[in-house]
Amino acid sequence: MRGVWLEQMGEPWAVQEVADREVRPGGVLVDVVAVRVPSYTRQVLTGELNYDLPVPLVPGPTCIGRVRAVADDVFGVTVGEVALCNSLYSSGEMSGSPDEILIGWTGSGSARSARMQHQWRHGSFAQRACYPASCVTVLPGADQWTRPELLPFLASLAIADGGLRRGGLRGGQSVIVNGATGNLGGAAVFAALARGATQVIATGRRRESLAALVELDPRVKPVVLTGDRARDGEAIRAQTDAGADLLLDVVGNTPTTDPTLACLDALRLRGTAVLVGGVRHELALPYQRIQRQQLTVTGSFMFDSATALEVWQLVRAGTIDLTRVRAHSYDLEHFDDALETAASLSGLDYTVLLPGS
Ligand SMILES: NC(=O)c1ccc[n+]([C@@H]2O[C@H](COP(=O)([O-])OP(=O)(O)OC[C@H]3O[C@@H](n4cnc5c(N)ncnc54)[C@H](OP(=O)(O)O)[C@@H]3O)[C@@H](O)[C@H]2O)c1
Repeated sequence: MRGVWLEQMGEPWAVQEVADREVRPGGVLVDVVAVRVPSYTRQVLTGELNYDLPVPLVPGPTCIGRVRAVADDVFGVTVGEVALCNSLYSSGEMSGSPDEILIGWTGSGSARSARMQHQWRHGSFAQRACYPASCVTVLPGADQWTRPELLPFLASLAIADGGLRRGGLRGGQSVIVNGATGNLGGAAVFAALARGATQVIATGRRRESLAALVELDPRVKPVVLTGDRARDGEAIRAQTDAGADLLLDVVGNTPTTDPTLACLDALRLRGTAVLVGGVRHELALPYQRIQRQQLTVTGSFMFDSATALEVWQLVRAGTIDLTRVRAHSYDLEHFDDALETAASLSGLDYTVLLPGS
């Protein structure tokens, strides 16, 4: 089969013939239908972001697959069904403290994580991929979906919705989405609106991406970030009644943590901040404010099957209109073009690889 092959970190990758995948015990073999190419994929493959890629491998994150074969010991998945294949794979809770890896993407650095990566090494930038059954969520009715290039956005929706759940979002609350101009940010705006937020304060630097979000719903309030923490915090707070209930932080690796802190400054009494983004610096938390305002700061990573299924049902119900997303599609042979486009897109524009096309 054809796939992207990365032999060594720091060396160029290639689209080439690679060993075909076979279904393995506990696994589900899929034809990869569509996979989102994140904006920062090139930096993952070059090693710039220090992701723990188990080379040599076929890289690639969470994808949409059509089930091709199912192991004898896997039940509840049928050949032909379309599924969201979550790259998040957990060693399970039986030892009390599980390791989690992202198949084809990164590990946690531990010896057990390395063993897990050895067994479940290859990702989705190929015609076929095999995932542990626990990673696979069947999407009822998706086999009839006529726009497969839009389906990988479900992964972004599920990551965002998982973060909103972690923050305990209830209908009628106000939500700040920091980094709303990114792919996860756009998904977070969709998810917060679908979950009944009264105000969604969308922050980012790219005005045109914010404008596209405002068109989704009058509840979306844009704030263009200036980089000045005090000024940004005030501008965000001014869009709320008395501060926001929840911050979902989905920014990329910003050079300082000021955008995140500006949003934290705009939370109301007993507000919650959920950190989901790619910031790689230490966050200097305002101790007194957190104590006096009884704020909660927590994190969220990827999503579970129940969340994936729920966002899919919201899409099927029309509560989330996936057709507002603009997919820029590439076949496998044009992987490098896809990387270039991915780096330049934002918001509701995203890049998709369609390995079967
Ligand atoms: N927790 C999880 O489960 C999970 C899962 C997947 C990804 N992630 C992380 O989430 C992050 C976002 O992913 P994505 O796909 O949405 O990336 P993306 O599309 O590149 O979006 C990045 C966002 O960060 C903002 N940003 C970048 N530099 C900034 C700066 N200097 N000041 C202010 N804002 C800045 C961008 O705003 P402008 O373009 O307007 O500047 C944009 O809104 C990634 O870094 C990734 O590591 C987390």
